[in-house]
Amino acid sequence: MDEPSSNPLRRQLAGGIVPEEVVARTEKRWLVVMAAMLTVMMAIIVTTGIVSALHPASNVEIIEPQTLHLRGEFVESNLGTAVEPDGSVTVRIIAEQYDFVPLCIRVPAGAPVKFRLTSADVVHGFLLPNTNVNTMVVPGFVAEVRTSFTAPGEYAMPCNEFCGVGHHAMLAHVSVVPKEQFAKLTRVERTSCAPQ
Ligand code: CUA
Repeated sequence: MDEPSSNPLRRQLAGGIVPEEVVARTEKRWLVVMAAMLTVMMAIIVTTGIVSALHPASNVEIIEPQTLHLRGEFVESNLGTAVEPDGSVTVRIIAEQYDFVPLCIRVPAGAPVKFRLTSADVVHGFLLPNTNVNTMVVPGFVAEVRTSFTAPGEYAMPCNEFCGVGHHAMLAHVSVVPKEQFAKLTRVERTSCAPQ
C-alpha cells in the first residue's frame, strides 16, 4: 500500500488542483483498460457465435396478437410439432402469461428443428439450456429459431424474460426422442407430449 502522500491524486497542491499531466496519464490508463475489456468482450461474442452457432434472431415477421386463436398459423389445432415432407420438423408455440402452449413439445433427435413462436400478451423469453436456442418472444412478431438435438433427452424450457408475477412458474418441456421411436408415434403423440 502506498503512503497517502505518494498518491498523486491525493497530494495536496495549491488550490487542491491535480496537475494536468497526472490527469492525462490516469485517463490514458483507463482508456487502455476499457479498450482491453471491449476487445475481450468482442472476442467472446465472435468466438461463441462461430463455435456454438449463437446468433441474434434475425427473423422479422409480423402477426396480429389479438386474433392468434381465431385464424392463421397459430390457431390451436396447428400448435405443437409438425413433420415436414423433408423429415425436418416445425414446432409452433404460443407464449402467454404464464404458460407455453403446448406445455410439452416432442421432437425427434438428429433432425432439423425449426421453432416458431409468438406471444399473445407481453414479451416472454424462450430458452433451451445447453443449445443455441435463446430468443425473445415479442407480441406482434413471430420469433423463429433453428436447432437440432443430437441425443434424446429432456430439456427444460423456462421463460427467461420477466413477464409478470407468474414469470418464475412459466416453464415448459422439450422431450427429444430417438428418430425411429418418433416415426412410430401417432399424429397426436408427435404433436405434443402435454397431457391431453
Ligand atoms: Cu413469460 Cu417470463
